[in-house]
Amino acid sequence: MGLLDNVPVPMKKRMAFLEELDRRHRSGDVPPDVRLRQVPPDTGKFLACMAMMAPAGTYLEIGTSGGYSALWISVACRELGRKLITFEVLPKKIELARETFRVAGVDDVVDLVPGDALLHLQAYKDVSFCFLDAEKECYAECYDKIVPNMVQRGILVADNVLSHKEILKEMVDDALSDQRVYAMVLPIGSGLLLCVRR
Ligand SMILES: C[S@@+](CC[C@H](N)C(=O)[O-])C[C@H]1O[C@@H](n2cnc3c(N)ncnc32)[C@H](O)[C@@H]1O
Repeated sequence: MGLLDNVPVPMKKRMAFLEELDRRHRSGDVPPDVRLRQVPPDTGKFLACMAMMAPAGTYLEIGTSGGYSALWISVACRELGRKLITFEVLPKKIELARETFRVAGVDDVVDLVPGDALLHLQAYKDVSFCFLDAEKECYAECYDKIVPNMVQRGILVADNVLSHKEILKEMVDDALSDQRVYAMVLPIGSGLLLCVRR
């Protein structure tokens, strides 16, 4: 069964809208506080699969943008009866993501928290799924705040580890040798770091 088979029409429509908007942003001159920079569909599908397999606990996303990756994760949340908490710091993106969750019909599944995720992360003590897709400079700090609070077999996925190989090298190398997790890099989309809490 394809993952999209189970996706309601309003969500499919919003995904298609955001994919087209992202395509236009990538080929045009769009200010940084508006540019979506969202994951490609293959990464979205992979996130939905991982979210489907994650154990019970708190689901987090760091970097909402227009809500595209959150929609994919919410497919699993809806099926499992779980919720996603997603963080976004830029006002224009918060507005767009709110619209995304409303028109896609996932307001009851996704909780958008405005502001810097770093100020909130330590409050979550049972993280079972986390998608890290924020500014690369804060990846290591996010990782350090999340991993100690992950449940056993909890899943953390970080994006852009191949597209931003140089800037993320130290963080990725640290994760690959971190005894608390099983970790590997996957050539999906911009490159994903996958960590499973031991
Ligand atoms: C690459 S985009 C996220 C794309 C989104 N995950 C998707 O695929 O649809 C990164 C987003 O993270 C946000 N961001 C960066 N650092 C953040 C932080 N510390 N807390 C919350 N949001 C942050 C940025 O404003 C930006 O919108």
